[in-house]
Amino acid sequence: MLSAKSAEVIEATLPAVGAAIGDITPRFYDRLFAAHPELLRDLFNRGNQANGTQRQALAGSIATFATALLAHPDQRPDAMLARIAHKHVSVGIADDQYEIVHEHLFAAIVEVLGEAVTPEVAAAWDEVYWLMANALIAVEDRLRAEAAAGGDPADLWRPYTVVTRYQETDSVTSYLVRPADGHPVPTSRPGQYVSVRTELPDGARQIRQYSLSGGADGALRFTVKREAGGEVSGHLQDHLRTGDTVELSAPMGDVFLAEGDGPVLLASAGIGNTPMTAMLDHLAATGSTRRIVSVHGDRDQLSHAFRADLEQLTAKLPNATAHVFYEQPLGEWPAERTGLVNLASVEIPAGTTAYLCGPLPFLRAVREQLLTAGVPAADIHYEVFGPDLWLGA
Ligand SMILES: Cc1cc2nc3c(=O)[nH]c(=O)nc-3n(C[C@H](O)[C@H](O)[C@H](O)COP(=O)(O)OP(=O)(O)OC[C@H]3O[C@@H](n4cnc5c(N)ncnc54)[C@H](O)[C@@H]3O)c2cc1C
Ligand code: HEM
Repeated sequence: MLSAKSAEVIEATLPAVGAAIGDITPRFYDRLFAAHPELLRDLFNRGNQANGTQRQALAGSIATFATALLAHPDQRPDAMLARIAHKHVSVGIADDQYEIVHEHLFAAIVEVLGEAVTPEVAAAWDEVYWLMANALIAVEDRLRAEAAAGGDPADLWRPYTVVTRYQETDSVTSYLVRPADGHPVPTSRPGQYVSVRTELPDGARQIRQYSLSGGADGALRFTVKREAGGEVSGHLQDHLRTGDTVELSAPMGDVFLAEGDGPVLLASAGIGNTPMTAMLDHLAATGSTRRIVSVHGDRDQLSHAFRADLEQLTAKLPNATAHVFYEQPLGEWPAERTGLVNLASVEIPAGTTAYLCGPLPFLRAVREQLLTAGVPAADIHYEVFGPDLWLGA
């Protein structure tokens, strides 16, 4: 798909662009938000902007895309783009906003690289940008069409009423919500998330993602852990009460439990067990006879949200086992289950498909342990509760 002429130029300039990308992205975002302050207030996650993680994600993805195009010029790496496309749809990116991002990104590139950006170099990177943008637009249009085909209203944001609020632990709260617009709950796959849009005290409408942690009888459940210094998680916990209305996007996310009858491993740490709880819930509700190994790591019994759900759901499933690790267990606890998650003592059946969710060090360690145990990389799926920095890819 990338023309031979552009491929040559990209190959020659990728190292220089790659090295400068750390300078290009802050200038790009400064330009973008100076021209469109509403994007920082009401679309981008300003927590991620402040701590820099989203900036790295964008830069990382363009470099990865260019590298993939050079390695396989005839293929469009749609799979790699799925995560970004799901996120874009869930926050409400419109196709015409790609022009705006293009304008400010290329102005930032010229600002940083100066005369090195000859017309030939600009044309080659333009081609890469639009290949990536058009690939994203195609996937995003398809995702929106699929959501609409399910009979959901065309509006991305729908109002929901909180029917139950439940304190899982000191810092974790679950919300069971039902559509307030009279339409049925949208279809979702176990493991997917919704975006939650919240008006903050300064009037900004900030968006965050929360994995669905279950739900039944026309209701969805999502679960929020209070993040130290976090704007939205704290605001939700302090203000969102039973009877209140909250705006949610359609369920999105490319990491979800695949149908089938092969063995499944669900591994999580901390609040990373929200999508795993939805998957286990689904397996139990459908009477699954699959071999299921759940592994979870937490600080101790009190910080472990969904402890009872894990026990009850595992007991309902005929071929399921659960292995819980605590770093600082309270009271009696087996020595081999004390400390960080370690799969060495956990039997992993041949043909296992693994789903992982937790902090990056956990994901890296568990992925490594699974690879060592012989699970192919293609069978290891992971969700990250922040921008994916492509570290595990
Ligand atoms: C796909 C997905 C699924 C998710 N599922 C869940 C879930 O099920 N449950 C859940 O609890 N969370 C989930 N999350 C995380 C959630 O979306 C939020 O990121 C989380 O709640 C924190 O948001 P916040 O607004 O409270 O924090 P933010 O305000 O966004 O802050 C995030 C971090 O940045 C730091 N920060 C903020 N401002 C600055 C600054 N000026 N300088 C330096 N650092 C700063 C904060 O201290 C904090 O550590 C998920 C995320 C994704 C992407
Ligand atoms: C080719 C162009 C683009 C690329 C390569 C790109 C890349 C990315 C990446 C890598 C992420 C992080 C995904 C993750 O969670 O792992 C992301 C998220 C996001 N993108 Fe884009 N994007 C592009 C275009 C756009 C456009 C046109 C907009 C709209 C103005 C936009 C707005 C956002 C927003 C709001 C998020 C979520 C931000 C957050 O939660 O902090 N992007 N994008």
